[in-house]
Amino acid sequence: MATFPSGAGNISQLNAVILGDALASEEFDLIFPSHEFSSQALVSSPQKYLEMYKRSVEDPAGFWSDIACEFYWKEKWGHKVFDENLDVRKGPIKIQWFKGGVTNICYNCLDRNIESGNGDKVAIYWEGNEPGVDGVLTYNQLLQKVCQLANYLKDNGVEKGNAVLIYLPMLMELPIAMLACARIGAVHSVVFAGFSAESVAQRIIDCRPKIVITCNAVTRGSKIINLKDIVNAALDEASHNGITVDACLTFENESAMTRKDTKWQVGRDVWWQDVVPKYPQVCDVVWVDAEDPLFLLYTSGSTGKPKGVLHTTGGYMIYSATTFKYAFDYKQSDIYWCTADCGWITGHSYVTYGPLLNGATVVVYEGAPNYPDPGRSWAIVDKYKVTLFYTAPTLVRSLMRDGDEHVTRYSRKSLRVLGSVGEPINPSAWRWYFNVVGDSRCPISDTWWQTETGGFMITPLPGAWPQKPGSATLPFFGVQPVIVDEKGIEIEGECSGYLCIKGSWPGAFRTLYGDHDRYETTYFKPFPGYYFSGDGCSRDKDGYHWLTGRVDDVINVSGHRIGTAEVESALVSHPQCAEAAVVGVEHEVKGQGIYAFVTLIDGVPYSEELRKSLILAVRKQIGAFAAPDKIHWAPGLPKTRSGKIMRRILRKIASKQLDELGDTSTLADPCVVDQLIALADC
Ligand code: WT7
Repeated sequence: MATFPSGAGNISQLNAVILGDALASEEFDLIFPSHEFSSQALVSSPQKYLEMYKRSVEDPAGFWSDIACEFYWKEKWGHKVFDENLDVRKGPIKIQWFKGGVTNICYNCLDRNIESGNGDKVAIYWEGNEPGVDGVLTYNQLLQKVCQLANYLKDNGVEKGNAVLIYLPMLMELPIAMLACARIGAVHSVVFAGFSAESVAQRIIDCRPKIVITCNAVTRGSKIINLKDIVNAALDEASHNGITVDACLTFENESAMTRKDTKWQVGRDVWWQDVVPKYPQVCDVVWVDAEDPLFLLYTSGSTGKPKGVLHTTGGYMIYSATTFKYAFDYKQSDIYWCTADCGWITGHSYVTYGPLLNGATVVVYEGAPNYPDPGRSWAIVDKYKVTLFYTAPTLVRSLMRDGDEHVTRYSRKSLRVLGSVGEPINPSAWRWYFNVVGDSRCPISDTWWQTETGGFMITPLPGAWPQKPGSATLPFFGVQPVIVDEKGIEIEGECSGYLCIKGSWPGAFRTLYGDHDRYETTYFKPFPGYYFSGDGCSRDKDGYHWLTGRVDDVINVSGHRIGTAEVESALVSHPQCAEAAVVGVEHEVKGQGIYAFVTLIDGVPYSEELRKSLILAVRKQIGAFAAPDKIHWAPGLPKTRSGKIMRRILRKIASKQLDELGDTSTLADPCVVDQLIALADC
């Protein structure tokens, strides 16, 4: 009988079903990959997985160095494959993989694949917002474009270790810019092009880029968004804080806006098209240490200040490539499309690096998946014969609401594996995705991971074992998930609690930029000895994992992580707002919605106009995606006698579970609860 080394559960059940015990599958709600799929899969059975998994946790150095050898290293790493301390009681937290190894991730994505004969293979199919507008780059062409930009950056003083901030929509220039930075050892920090000027400024001030790369405008659906205005405002704000950049390289996105309509600062602003194409199409690689930084990506936490998650080169390279390969059961003939934006970690690991490291053909789509109509995603799937499709539950739910006919009028025959990421996928959305989108034929990889983890942590390997709708299933190679109770004690077998990880994995983030203390405090102090994910999780008797959402003050809206403190601080910046408390509330499409309780300064009356201007304050400070769904007027907030806001009560009021308010007697003023309930629908 096979069991997981980490005590993660007994999988004899799986063996029984693999052997054709159909009854069991109904009883346990297991959905099997077809024999046809499994027989050709990279990992074709639970036994095969267990064998590999066992080695990966018993001999991580051997397991990962064997894989790392498939990549190009200018010099091999030192005698230690990895070095770690994950226990704050034993000293500072440290994670290192392949230290002393010298490599370059851009070289491994492009030059290495070209040298192995794939230069004419398509690297990127680009699909524009408007149907019919598209583009294509082979590996050779992509390398040439990357080299030209890398040469521009070098020529303008960007050196190894310098930061470059990228604020671009999903044009081909976005992955090109990331790869160009990587080629010369510069550290990119991509900021999602839906963030506001103030958020961009905050990030510029924190990471002090030498150059900012952006474009003048983008069309989203039928709206034109002037990105250059946003960047101009951010650069002004940064310069008031003493931070200036050497140049703002601006790509002219002529389909959205002309040059003459773009506000320009001579001396600082440069048109991409005027300078970059003049540079040579070859550029020497700057070789870096495996532990040299590759990128910074800001993410939300439970305080108002975003965290600069820092990933390094070697471990991240091996991990993003390997997770991509196995979780999607990648074959050289696949056409892969991930709907995520490169502004989030998903776009880093699974639009750019993971797929290109595997020499894959990637679809990059500029627009919204339901523009101009809800069938657009499947039109794109059919157009490019997409085989691997990776998206978020929020899109699945929204397309499900639009009706099956928008899906079924397209063939979708090319599809082989479907993926899900960002939040738990509810079983009904899972089934719709499986039955309608995938014609009950394509396994679903529900991948659980985080900005911090760099790559998949808990995910199905699609040909290896049956799936359960709504479960991210079992750990990836080398990952040892543990579930702990409040005291940090590991719980075995069937249980629920806080999800932690024991030991390091190559893709783990190494620090929070400029704040190693916060890194230790947030992730390693809550449960000493482990990395704490911030998620709740239960594990069933078969060892399958069921993620239950964040247990901290972070809300997950459409798969985007938003800190309640950030929204609160945006609200209180409004001159008429005295206090605000924000909680997450269930939302049919977005997963969670943002629900804000707002106390106005004395004497200010409630009004629809004020509600709108409060929402505008959040759009302005963070971005439209963080706008509250509901403003609930609050004459007072429920606080303990020591002044702490009792969010537990606010969550119950927001979700209308009024009979579950619990004990309110410890409140400084219990009357506020009745006042809030009375104002719920105002
Ligand atoms: C948080 C991380 C990782 C890429 C996108 C979001 C939630 C993510 C799943 C999943 C259940 C999930 C978690 C996690 N999450 N994927 N498959 N099942 N929950 O990255 O912004 O760093 O957010 O997203 O709560 O902690 P992120």
